Amino acid sequence: MLFRVTPSKIRDATVTVPGDKSISHRALMLGAIARGRSEISGFLAGEDCLATLAAMRALGVSVQEVGPTELIVEGVGRDGLDQPDSALDLGNSGTAMRLMAGLLAGQPFVSVLDGDGSLRSRPMGRVITPLTRMGATIDSHDGRPPLTVHGSPRLEAIDYVMPVASAQVKSAVLLAGLYADGVTSVVEPAVTRDHTERMLGSMGVSVTRSHGRVSIAGGQSLTGCRITVPADLSSASFLMLAALLAERADILIQGVGINPTRTGVIDILRAMGGKIDILNARSEGEEPVGDIRVRSSQLRGGEVDPGLVSLAIDEFPVLFVAAAVASGETVFTGIGELRVKESDRIAAMADGLRGLGIGVQESADGAEVTGGQFTGGRVKSFGDHRVAMALAVAATVANGSVLIEDVEAVDTSFPGFVNCLASVGATIEHVEEADA
Ligand code: S3P
Repeated sequence: MLFRVTPSKIRDATVTVPGDKSISHRALMLGAIARGRSEISGFLAGEDCLATLAAMRALGVSVQEVGPTELIVEGVGRDGLDQPDSALDLGNSGTAMRLMAGLLAGQPFVSVLDGDGSLRSRPMGRVITPLTRMGATIDSHDGRPPLTVHGSPRLEAIDYVMPVASAQVKSAVLLAGLYADGVTSVVEPAVTRDHTERMLGSMGVSVTRSHGRVSIAGGQSLTGCRITVPADLSSASFLMLAALLAERADILIQGVGINPTRTGVIDILRAMGGKIDILNARSEGEEPVGDIRVRSSQLRGGEVDPGLVSLAIDEFPVLFVAAAVASGETVFTGIGELRVKESDRIAAMADGLRGLGIGVQESADGAEVTGGQFTGGRVKSFGDHRVAMALAVAATVANGSVLIEDVEAVDTSFPGFVNCLASVGATIEHVEEADA
């Protein structure tokens, strides 16, 4: 399946985007091991989170789907999970695999975690190393999935200095830490999203943070609660980009999560001259939420602050497109982690932008983009949802029609993306190869 996008007139609009992927995964996993019921609203019913939902059911947890985005999880308590009958298929989701490796490390049974071709190529050594130190045994294919997790109900607490800034690794170690004797600590080289810590807090677990060290005492129980999942800022960023690039548009995206560990994209786009305002800032439980107003802007290049990378880690496809229309050169450094996401996102975005007539120089952990005008063309998404969506938005301001290949993965994080982008004026459709 491909997207065909033709030059479009993006207009003023008020939109909503689906629920936050990171928070939806955590709501299911933490709800599952809590005592009592958790009621989740705003859940992201995208393929990644649905894979986590199926995995929770395979572990013996009852999850009722009471509405399109409403779930009730009947928690089984921290020691109530059952050994699954077969391998858990986590599809495309690195978050599901890494967090579940942590959760399953503390169980008294063996489980197997597997996924699609993209997930099978992603590095898991980053969770295997600390979880092995805690006392679990994890077999892998040279550090890649499938993973066979031989859990142990009595893990040892560790003090772990993470070599890479990763919320997934931090979360995996904290979840295993619930099953460890003593206090487990994780030191982050840079601040990463803290949804696990916040949600554990709202379920009655004490997690402390001091000078970049996050600590959890083992043996604590979770209590089920009501979780309102905000709209996903990562999904909202595609609409923000559409507004920024447009000739004249003013778009309001409602009820978006604006947790400060996620808002690097707003800071970077503002530094490039983007007109972005947060309205009606409020809280939904532990998570800050706001409405984001974005107006068309003349973007300018420059050096993107590497200190913001971990706070904008999923938004670089969007930022590459912003750089491609900005005046002058935009220089990205310290973004090597992008090479091990759902695709090698530095290479994928460089390929896509070049295919639309933009100059890009790549380095091992960075890129330099020379602003210009997009041409029409046919580009690849490399099966990566965010690459596909970023190129689709770029195509709205190209001077010809653009075809984007292999866009099925968009449903992993943003079901309804085509309708949402069309609702702000984009001319975008799905086409089969035979009709392309
Ligand atoms: C996520 C953490 C990030 C991010 C991913 C979601 C999470 O990954 O890229 O999409 O929910 O914890 P890393 O921890 O590998 O940076």
